[in-house]
Amino acid sequence: MTGILNPYKEAYRQSLSDPETFWGNNARGIDWNSPWDTVLDRSNPPFYRWFSGATLNICYNALDRHILAGKGEQTALIWDSPVTGIIQTYTHTTLCEMVARFAGGLTNLGLQKGDRVIIYMPMVPEAIIGMLACARIGAIHSVVFGGFAPKELAKRIRDAEPTIILSASCGIEVNRIIPYKPLLDEAIEISGHKPGRCIILQRKECEVELNHPRDIAWDEVSNSRPVGCVPVNATDPLYILYTSGTTGVPKGVVRDTGGYAVALHWSMRSIYGINPGEVFFAASDIGWVVGHSYIVYGPLLAGCTTILYEGKSVGTPDEGSFWRVIERHGVHVLFTAPTAFRAIRREDPNGTHIPRYDLSSLRTLFLAGERCDPDTLLWAEEKLRVPVIDHWWQTETGWPIGANPVGIELFPTKPGSCTKPVPGYDIRVFDDNQVEVPFGITGNVVISLPLPPGCFTTLWNNDADYVKTYMSTYPGYYLTSDAGFIDEDGYLWIMGRTDDIINVAGHRLSTGSMEEVLSSHETVAECAVIGVHDIIKSEVPVGFVVLKSGVKREFDQIEHELVQLIRGRIGPIASFKTVLKVKRLPKTRSGKILRGTMKKIADGAQFNVPATIDDPVVLTEIQSELQERGFPRR
Ligand code: COA
Ligand code: AMP
Repeated sequence: MTGILNPYKEAYRQSLSDPETFWGNNARGIDWNSPWDTVLDRSNPPFYRWFSGATLNICYNALDRHILAGKGEQTALIWDSPVTGIIQTYTHTTLCEMVARFAGGLTNLGLQKGDRVIIYMPMVPEAIIGMLACARIGAIHSVVFGGFAPKELAKRIRDAEPTIILSASCGIEVNRIIPYKPLLDEAIEISGHKPGRCIILQRKECEVELNHPRDIAWDEVSNSRPVGCVPVNATDPLYILYTSGTTGVPKGVVRDTGGYAVALHWSMRSIYGINPGEVFFAASDIGWVVGHSYIVYGPLLAGCTTILYEGKSVGTPDEGSFWRVIERHGVHVLFTAPTAFRAIRREDPNGTHIPRYDLSSLRTLFLAGERCDPDTLLWAEEKLRVPVIDHWWQTETGWPIGANPVGIELFPTKPGSCTKPVPGYDIRVFDDNQVEVPFGITGNVVISLPLPPGCFTTLWNNDADYVKTYMSTYPGYYLTSDAGFIDEDGYLWIMGRTDDIINVAGHRLSTGSMEEVLSSHETVAECAVIGVHDIIKSEVPVGFVVLKSGVKREFDQIEHELVQLIRGRIGPIASFKTVLKVKRLPKTRSGKILRGTMKKIADGAQFNVPATIDDPVVLTEIQSELQERGFPRR
């Protein structure tokens, strides 16, 4: 891009006015088995397809080609696990060999192109080996975050109907062992779908008994004869990643292969400003989209070293956890959620741990998963002395929508904004009446179709819901369900969700699905769950319940049961700890629960009594109930 006066402006302009040329040129970063017929197939909107007719293998692009280019001995993956005390390094050659052997084992078990494989694993290298092995033979993986309870896992098993499940005997949460096998067994039982095989990695922290013949030990599969890469269509699904929707049924976001490879490869240089051979550390979990795109595929496609970190930002073992990793492995780019930095700052407000480490390799910090509060951003910038970039994206898009594109042009930051629309994304802001709003006015953020390559192509088994949920409200546009605005300098500000999704410590959760769980308790007549401001996690869910008449039990006990119910049905990751008993829920005259007003009261924000409320006294009752429980907790 050197030599161009306004490189970002030029890239952005071309990406929208001539996406075929823009992405066709950038597709040269990927090795294809056969070329495309068309860069962008627009024949069946809103089901646009990128690189139709082309074939490739993404595992080949992530591993084999680097070996062929003479970089076999370069480090591809570092597993850094403070919770087990292990650090392991894998070169491209070793990782490729392990992937090829495991893929051979999967093939021997009968796994074929297009079959689904659920991966329910902790942050161990075998999880990445499993993902890449699926990609190598054209099987579709679906990674489920380890913090989800059996019922949530069961929903995903039911929908994806996996032929094989990959799992481990346990996960490790700081110093607590979480046995996975009982969770997996329960999930399979309730899902009603019987996978042919479960391949279980025995961790020495907790060895488990296997249910033969269904269960098979990882080691029995991983030493098979290696197999090569199967070319797949660019438009074939690489993976399904389930994410929270507005109901209890998760949405199976489908990612294609070719468009995703092109977009991620381009983003590594253009957005993250990282070069082949450098070290990328995405402190997330492979169960989330950040993990898929920037622990696994993005860095490996770009020939970078990626770090798989099994630990937390604090407490593993102390508040210097991330700094140790950066120093030890010479990290160039760190990517995590703002919540991780709030947790570090709480433990070490003056950043006294930071100077104890050599962080000279670090060039940039990227934050995503929730809006970064300006305070945290400025603190990180001051302590680390590198640009701190808040960037916005969603599971659906798979890579950033709004960012400061470091590799193209670094713009001055405006704390609270995610800077500029990324090339490829034509972002607009509309009011509820489908009218585009002027600069500075908050509205519904939408993206003109077609979306750039790498974004989801549909929902698994559910084209209808893809169209209804995302593509119908504003015809010709993708509805992000985020509210925000664009300012007069073209900066993008994403302020929060317009639906019932909340972001808890960077984890996306549906309050609707929590309400479904609370309603199932025998004492609950009616309930609402809202996200309330939390100093570390940004938001945490708080339940409000109206008990059935005649319930005489102590509320403390009921609250405990409700908290355990959410933990058991959704998982500990919901961070659901508080339930308040109220006489009634505030509603409009037409019966709609006024969740927005409840949230404002709980957050201690200014609020107007809605004109449509049926009984304003309820708000006062809720206010005093919240005060009694110490809200707002700022
Ligand atoms: N398996 C089982 N349980 C899990 C789990 C897993 N994979 N991941 C989290 N949990 C549990 C935790 O142990 C905790 O349980 P508890 O209520 O018994 O304490 C609960 O789920 C909530 O976890 P979490 O939200 O991670 O909170 P935390 O207090 O343990 O840690 C942070 C908070 C900020 C330190 C931590 O979330 C962090 O380091 N985050 C880094 C950034 C990140 O993960 N981003 C994701 C998207 S980019
Ligand atoms: P997920 O699908 O888990 O990545 O969550 C996507 C949602 O997280 C978005 O719709 C936003 O609401 C929120 N989000 C992610 N990154 C940001 C950001 N940088 N600023 C504001 N909100 C964000």
